[in-house]
Amino acid sequence: MPANKKILFLAGDGIGPEVMRQVRRVIDWMDRRRGVTFDVSEGLVGGAAIDQYGVPLADATLAEALASDAVMLGAVGGPKWDTMSFDKRPEAGLLALRKELGLYANLRPAQVFDALVDASTLKPEIVKGLDILIVRELTGGVYFGEPRGIEDLGNGEKRGINTQVYTTTEIRRVARVAFELARKRSNKVHSMEKANVMESGLLWRQEVTRLHQEEFQDVELHHMYADNGAMQLIRNPKQFDVIVTDNLFGDILSDEAAMMTGSLGMLPSAALGDPDANGNRKAMYEPVHGSAPDIAGKDLANPIATLLSFAMALRYSFNLDTDAGLIEKAVQNVLGGGMRTADIMAPGMARCSTTVMGDSILRELDKLAA
Ligand code: IPM
Ligand code: MG
Repeated sequence: MPANKKILFLAGDGIGPEVMRQVRRVIDWMDRRRGVTFDVSEGLVGGAAIDQYGVPLADATLAEALASDAVMLGAVGGPKWDTMSFDKRPEAGLLALRKELGLYANLRPAQVFDALVDASTLKPEIVKGLDILIVRELTGGVYFGEPRGIEDLGNGEKRGINTQVYTTTEIRRVARVAFELARKRSNKVHSMEKANVMESGLLWRQEVTRLHQEEFQDVELHHMYADNGAMQLIRNPKQFDVIVTDNLFGDILSDEAAMMTGSLGMLPSAALGDPDANGNRKAMYEPVHGSAPDIAGKDLANPIATLLSFAMALRYSFNLDTDAGLIEKAVQNVLGGGMRTADIMAPGMARCSTTVMGDSILRELDKLAA
């Protein structure tokens, strides 16, 4: 069978390479045990690309990403590059990938595994069974708005400027993704903005309302100010099903949602673009956590967020739901068996390294596929 599933691996910096190595092992396993073959290539992004090419995303790497069915990304950034200007920093490589691939819809599910109920800082009854999906707008808003910069006003005074801007099209397309996903879940969408103080937020609310009226009246829609949303997430997270929000609020609310699951090391994400004529979307999958320079190279990082991101790739880019389910089930079983990387360690559990977590998940996959 020809290997026509093209994946580009961009491991990036810090713990990126070590967590991505575990995905490579699962890919090898799928080839051996499931007869599913991927055409995998590797490239550099972020600080690793700066060190090699002088830029956080080389043109050739971007071209390769554009030619792939999916991109798997580890993490970018670290203290070594922290003093560089915004357009040259590792993060600029990630933002360029999102923008150039047109990945405007960022799906960040936060699910609490039963075995990890006690790892959350919230009370077990608040988070048990939690399953929410944050749909974050990813290519607009204050992350990309112009003008931006730091101006020198003379006499020691400066001015930092960023622009929050959204158009009808940008709002409608991400809201559409949220409504469509809600229909496959509990059919409820909370849209979050600050329509009480921001024109872009008011337009967001108006456009989401209009799209809902036109096409999605069967879906329950609520509007919430983002600050109230942040508070409600802590107070009673299970009131939510799908949350749709802008780039900046989505960045913040998804970190908050992640911690309900016990650790940032658990949260996967998918970034999707518009479907083409064949229904295929450009897509990038990455853990929500960062490069964690403090533990990089020590075989301590939790690879689960990255493995679950790969499971999302199987679902959304390759229609391999069964295989995605196997990975998710393997993770669940390994956690149920007491294996814990440092970030989710609890009394009475077995603390393990990145590699041993990978070993355990592969062993579990063997059992599940037997
Ligand atoms: C995220 C990260 C990124 C963001 C950084 C690394 C640029 O925090 O994916 O949530 O702010 O979008
Ligand atoms: Mg973030």
